[in-house]
Amino acid sequence: DSNILTDTHNRTHNYLRISLSEKCNLRCTYCMPKDGIALSPRAHLMTADEIESIATVFVDHGVDKIRLTGGEPLVRKDFKIILEKLSKLPVKLSITTNALLTDRFIEDFKKYGLHDINVSLDTLDTEKFKFITRRDQFKLAYDNIQQLINEGFNVKINAVLMKDFNEDEITDFIELTRNQEINVRFIEFMPFDGNAWNKNKLVSQAEILNRVTDFYGVQSLKPLTNEQNFTARNFQIEHFKGSFGIISSVTNPFCDSCNRIRLTADGKLKNCLFSNDETNLLTAFRNGENIEDLINKSLNSKKAVRAGMTDFDQLTNPDLHSNNRSMIAIGG
Ligand code: GTP
Ligand code: 5AD
Ligand code: SF4
Repeated sequence: DSNILTDTHNRTHNYLRISLSEKCNLRCTYCMPKDGIALSPRAHLMTADEIESIATVFVDHGVDKIRLTGGEPLVRKDFKIILEKLSKLPVKLSITTNALLTDRFIEDFKKYGLHDINVSLDTLDTEKFKFITRRDQFKLAYDNIQQLINEGFNVKINAVLMKDFNEDEITDFIELTRNQEINVRFIEFMPFDGNAWNKNKLVSQAEILNRVTDFYGVQSLKPLTNEQNFTARNFQIEHFKGSFGIISSVTNPFCDSCNRIRLTADGKLKNCLFSNDETNLLTAFRNGENIEDLINKSLNSKKAVRAGMTDFDQLTNPDLHSNNRSMIAIGG
């Protein structure tokens, strides 16, 4: 029988990203609009039980990896309850967090089998951190990341690159991989509603690689084999313990092998990061409707590349990308 999670481009979606909250304890400029966003009324957000039930439908149809996102997933008051419920499902659990609260959850992560932790950190400089996040919390974030590494979690660091902000820190970030078995990913700055995206702020995959080879030499740069449903193209500097990657959604998309679907905190299914064609699963679920049909219908309308914005000019045209949500309400 046909899988409801396979789309018309023959991609099977086994990776569900669930946003747990529209709130965040940081206010990164590339993610949250300056004046914040209009938060959903509490009654419109999925409860822990609803998250469990809806996730179970996906798992029954082949999802075997769930990533918890936000806003910041750890600000959710019932985070531990949600983690406990999801830990009973046969899935690989992972989270993307800013690390400000991870020290409080170390034992829970271990107890419930959450080993894969991606952390957003865009700079290694206290003042720049204050500028980009609008909060003075660099030390806490950095110390908590170090704690996660020391405790043996599989840590990836996500750094969104922006011109005249942190492009000069690329090799400083790569130095973190010299003696530590971590993965640092440089992310091309992507346009979303209210994040003041501008072509001139983009640091492209090509520019990143140029900086790397200028510093380490062409011979030292070793490309690694792509993972099956990769977002990052990974590399290693010869003799370094860790690795680094580039997530080039803007200049070099990787949609061919996309296996990701998203559930927003208010229970809407997004078949693509860039799609504003949302399916209200939560309301249907509350009405006792069959959500399988809705999931299937949403996946069948998924476009081959970036919600139909196939080329650079389309993606970067505000008329096309600005009717999507702000990143904070999607979860990456
Ligand atoms: P892994 O599960 O470790 O592979 O993580 P991930 O890269 O899927 O997720 P993470 O939350 O760490 O996101 C890192 C960056 O990749 C963020 O900028 C995301 O917006 C971006 N990203 C994640 N999934 C997709 C995707 O399906 N399409 C695009 N274009 N970008 C994505
Ligand atoms: N462009 C690229 N990446 C972004 N993220 C948030 N906003 C953007 C953007 N505009 C990243 C964060 C986080 C991940 C979930 O998404 O760095 O690690
Ligand atoms: Fe998948 Fe859309 Fe991301 Fe492409 S842009 S990889 S289709 S979620």
